[in-house]
Order: sequence, then C-alpha cells, then structure tokens
Amino acid sequence: MFDASSKKRLLAVLVACFAVQTVLVYGDEPTGRLDEAAVRGRRIFHRGSCQVCHQLYGQGGFLGPDLTNAASRVDDTRLASLLTSGSGQMPAFHLSDAEIADVRAFLRAIDRTDLGRGQLRLGAPGDADTPFERLGEAARELGVPPTASVGLDAMAGRVCGVCHVPFRTSTVNAPDLTSVVERLAEAELRSVLTTGRPEKGMPPPAPAFRAEEMDGVVAWLQWLNVNRAELLARTEAGRGRPRIDWSRLSWWEYR
Ligand code: HEC
Ligand code: HEC
Repeated sequence: MFDASSKKRLLAVLVACFAVQTVLVYGDEPTGRLDEAAVRGRRIFHRGSCQVCHQLYGQGGFLGPDLTNAASRVDDTRLASLLTSGSGQMPAFHLSDAEIADVRAFLRAIDRTDLGRGQLRLGAPGDADTPFERLGEAARELGVPPTASVGLDAMAGRVCGVCHVPFRTSTVNAPDLTSVVERLAEAELRSVLTTGRPEKGMPPPAPAFRAEEMDGVVAWLQWLNVNRAELLARTEAGRGRPRIDWSRLSWWEYR
C-alpha cells in the first residue's frame, strides 16, 4: 500500500506529532504555583478536614457548599466569622487572624482558573505524598546543601517525579535517579538533562533547565548518590508513619 519513502515520511510525521505532544503535555510552565500563604492555607485546609464537608472542583463532602469559587462569594468579614465561630453545621475552628488570611489566600488561588494544576489524588493529604516529595522532605531533614537544593527545586517544579520514582525503576521504565551518577559520566548526564532521550520515553525537560538549575540538578544527583542509604532508610521510615483513614477520599490539590 505504501512504498518505502512514504513509509519513512509517515514515520517522520508520527515522530513529529509525538514531539509536539510531549512539549504540550510536559511544557506547562511551572509559574502557576501556590504562593507561601496559599500553601499554608492548604495545610490548614487539610488539618481542618475541610474537604470532609466541602468540595473543591466537585471533589469532597456535601454537607457544606462547594468552595471552588467561595473566594468571590464570601467576603472577608463572613469568612473570618465562619472560621472562628462556625455557622450552622460548620464547626468553630477558632483560627487566628494570620490563619484566616492563609485560608483566604488558598481559596483565592483555587478560584483562579489560570493557576496551578489540579491533581486528583487518593490517600492521606499529608505534606509529602508522592515518593519524590518524600525524598525531598528527607533530604531537607538531612541538610541538603544549597547548590543541590537548587536542583531539587528545579526538578520539583517540573514533572520528573511523575515518571522517576526514587530507589527503583518505575512502571514506565524510568530509572532510579539516586544512582544515575554511577551509570553516566557528567557530560552524558548533562546531555540527557538537555535533550532527554525522546526515542526511549525520556522527554526533554520543559522548560529547559537554566544554567544554574542544570548545575544544581547535577549537584543534587551527586548528593543523592552519596546519601542514598541514609535517604532510603529515612523514606522507608516515613512510609510507616501512621496515616489517617478518613482521608481515603479523593483530593484536589493545587501546587
Ligand atoms: C462538619 C462539616 C464542615 C467542616 C469540617 C467545615 N465546614 Fe465550612 N461549612 C459547613 C457548612 C454546613 C457551611 C454552610 C454554613 C452556613 O451557611 O451557615 C459551611 C460554610 C463554609 C464557607 C462559606 C461558603 C459559602 O459559600 O457561603 C466557607 C468559606 C467554609 N465553610 C470554609 C471552611 C473551611 C476553610 C473549613 C476547614 C477549616 C471548613 N469550612 C470546614 C460545614 C463544614
Ligand atoms: C514521561 C516519563 C519521564 C519524565 C517526565 C522524565 N523522565 Fe527521565 N527518563 C525516562 C525514561 C523512560 C528514561 C530511560 C531512557 C533510556 O532507557 O535511556 C529516563 C532517563 C533519564 C535519565 C538517565 C538515567 C540513566 O540511568 O540513564 C535522567 C538523568 C533523567 N531521565 C532525568 C530526568 C529529569 C531530571 C526529569 C525531569 C525534568 C525527567 N527525567 C523526566 C522517563 C521520564
């Protein structure tokens, strides 16, 4: 049906489609992240189990109203009153003024359509839920040096953790990056971190790492390797932390 050259052309078109798709899917600028106040507000939201009664984007309990657009609906005075004295079936949380401001920042962020990526996740709404986040938490506890920490943040701001799982090869065959410096020379590593290996399922990092981020990622991967055993022990320990049951709800998260 096709001769050899049209097969080649068809293949080239398919490869190009894949490349464009990869950039579209992974090229989300990580600019739409929650600011610090909103992250604190999200923590209060978890701690207060607000989602047991309220929905965000339709996910959560139905005793109270959906809070996705609450920021545009509820004025400051009413919010402060709700979060201190409660109202009807909404319990009194006695939050401080600073905590109320943080919850407000979170609700405003949720109300913005341009911000963040919703992420449906199952399980405990702790601060570190993905293996990559748990690794980052353990690294900070261990005192990750500043340069390596730039690399940690640079990776956390991209989608690396979706495919790469620490300490093992993931289900999509992405290798363990805590041992990558044993396999690749630094020049080779920098090359993968620049162009990816699209033909093998490793997309080029998007957005591309800036020079200081690239140095940071290399330092981070080297530091990870040196501290691998200790980090493994700490994240294993972290896995055994008691988890709360009610939270086996679906959660919408905004990063
Ligand atoms: C036990 C269930 C319950 C929990 C837990 C709960 N709420 Fe509520 N919430 C309600 C109910 C019921 C209302 C409606 C109250 C009313 O209209 O008098 C409400 C109302 C609100 C409103 C006003 C929404 C609107 O559109 O008028 C906000 C904002 C709110 N809650 C935020 C929170 C936050 C933040 C938390 C966690 C710190 C929380 N709620 C925890 C039940 C709950
Ligand atoms: C879509 C899944 C996916 C994403 C997202 C991804 N990778 Fe990969 N990565 C892979 C796969 C699969 C390989 C193995 C490719 C191969 O077999 O050569 C790989 C290989 C690598 C390697 C070489 C490892 C080795 O041992 O040879 C490095 C380094 C790497 N990725 C870093 C990253 C970083 C940093 C990010 C985030 C910017 C990232 N990856 C995002 C799938 C992914």
